[in-house]
Amino acid sequence: MNPSNIRVDEATRRLHERLMHVSRLAAVGEMASGVAHELNQPLAAVANYAQACERLLGLPNPDIEEVRDALRQITAQAVRAGDIISRLRGLTRARESLEQLTDVNSLILELSDLIDSDARLHESTCRFELASGLAPLNVDRAQIQQVVFALVRNALEALNGQPAGQREVVVKTSRAPDGDILIEVCDNGPGISAEIAQRLFDPFCTTKPAGTGLGLASSRTIARAHGGTLEHRAAPPRGACFVLRLPPPSRR
Ligand SMILES: Nc1ncnc2c1ncn2[C@@H]1O[C@H](COP(=O)(O)OP(=O)(O)O)[C@@H](O)[C@H]1O
Ligand SMILES: [Mg+2]
Repeated sequence: MNPSNIRVDEATRRLHERLMHVSRLAAVGEMASGVAHELNQPLAAVANYAQACERLLGLPNPDIEEVRDALRQITAQAVRAGDIISRLRGLTRARESLEQLTDVNSLILELSDLIDSDARLHESTCRFELASGLAPLNVDRAQIQQVVFALVRNALEALNGQPAGQREVVVKTSRAPDGDILIEVCDNGPGISAEIAQRLFDPFCTTKPAGTGLGLASSRTIARAHGGTLEHRAAPPRGACFVLRLPPPSRR
């Protein structure tokens, strides 16, 4: 390689670095304004309820029940703000990852009691279709469990509007032809609403009044950190299906 080529390479590398830096800054800026917006709601609610308490307590005969209600709202909103913050931490993956060789089915079975009781609360059933003979994967068990649980939770929440007795979630494992392991969570709910289909995995994208919109975003971050993917597909005749694809240790 002649010296001028080396100079060009060096310049390209610096430009690339600068661009990466700028795009990281843009992402951080976007993130910060999103966080500010999300946290503003619960904080404004806390301030309003606190003012209401003060006003109520200033009345000659304060209604203690009303004050108690307002205090409960303050607690709920503070918990919500805390939830947003802790999920954001998950999004940036600040904590060390603890990867170990793991049987994917056992990781799911460990969650099954929790999932079953959550399903009962939502008057739904959850079926497990776990393939046998799957090769072990090198993953952070807790993180993958967090993803599976977030997907099941979404499925159960989507089933809320459906007639009781027909609400079903299926958690399935299988081996793709290329050797990747697939974990699928499918439901027979209404499916993804068209207006958010393109933004599904964006932080803060939610259709739920008390949703954080961080479940799918942080789940995808975890999938990618494992060299995998998290995608959505429709589940004919109706419902949604989320597919977590994880590569075997030999391809990471
Ligand atoms: N199984 C599903 N069926 C229908 N819609 C879903 C499903 N899973 C996710 N969604 C949609 O994706 C949005 C984002 O999900 P998520 O990131 O987990 O945030 P949240 O659950 O807090 O709203 C949900 O608000 C919902 O509109
Ligand atoms: Mg969710």
